[in-house]
Amino acid sequence: MRRKLFFVTSNPHKVEEVKQFFPEIQQLNIELKEIRSDSFEEIAKAKLQEALEKIDEKNAIILVEDAGLEIEALNGFPGTYSAWVYKKIGCEGILKLMKDEKNRKAKFVAVVSAYIPDNEIIITTKGETEGYITEEKRGNKGFGYDPIFVPYNYPVTFAEDPVLKNKLSHRLKAWTKMKKKLTNIL
Ligand code: IMP
Repeated sequence: MRRKLFFVTSNPHKVEEVKQFFPEIQQLNIELKEIRSDSFEEIAKAKLQEALEKIDEKNAIILVEDAGLEIEALNGFPGTYSAWVYKKIGCEGILKLMKDEKNRKAKFVAVVSAYIPDNEIIITTKGETEGYITEEKRGNKGFGYDPIFVPYNYPVTFAEDPVLKNKLSHRLKAWTKMKKKLTNIL
């Protein structure tokens, strides 16, 4: 792909992960507002709209991502509120909410939205990775809820094994689908 591909985000961890399987991506470090909605897709589209208003790159492909953690026993909480909840109560707060809870199923979700200026369309892709919430924090790599998330069929948290994370993460799945779609249309 010879077009410029700009991932608009202020989160360096996301960029570092995405670049490992999508090296053409360049970061545009702009903090985007997050509307309140239960839909990752709706939030991603609103972020994309704001990014397009702020960026004057007529020929480039502008991409944004919205992601979060859904915990089954908490009816999907923190979900689309993951960033805000993380700032308020962090992993410790989630572990407290999950104290004595037997059902520890959870999944990470990532939605990526891209604007294609040629025909003015928006493409959206989604990735999900299922697993469990641990009893305590483990590992110090990664970011956000990585220390309390163990993917299905593996013994380690995402914060203990970033190489494993990048082989099966929600982010890898959403961005790989996006890369494929872009390759097909550009
Ligand atoms: P947003 O996509 O910028 O709204 O961020 C969502 C929030 O979900 C982040 O601030 C993290 O707390 C959490 N999150 C999203 N993706 C991940 C991940 O890959 N690992 C750990 N936490 C994540």
